[in-house]
Amino acid sequence: MTDDEFIDALPADHLAPGETMTVDVGGVAVTLANTGEGWCAYESTCPHQATPLGGVPLTRKVLLQCPEHGSMFDVTTGRCVLPSQDGWSGPLRTYRTQVVGDVVQVSLR
Ligand code: FES
Repeated sequence: MTDDEFIDALPADHLAPGETMTVDVGGVAVTLANTGEGWCAYESTCPHQATPLGGVPLTRKVLLQCPEHGSMFDVTTGRCVLPSQDGWSGPLRTYRTQVVGDVVQVSLR
């Protein structure tokens, strides 16, 4: 037993760089993103008004723009780097990832 409980999420060859996808991780919907240099995981809906984020491609390697009102997040930190059209600028919840063998794993803690 370790401090971190990482759960298998996705085969590491499943997404090309810049692609994202929502998967079930231990009963929680999590969106995975391949930045080309690593993997990021974050909540599957926009924290502004719950627009689904799975499948929304990354821009500039690590930026994700919500298609609904334009909030832009850095998926490596969850920080909002551009507020929504109505001025909302809260963070995106992120999860830690690791790659073991050819599997991307996510920690929900
Ligand atoms: S739902 Fe994403 S910015 Fe509004």
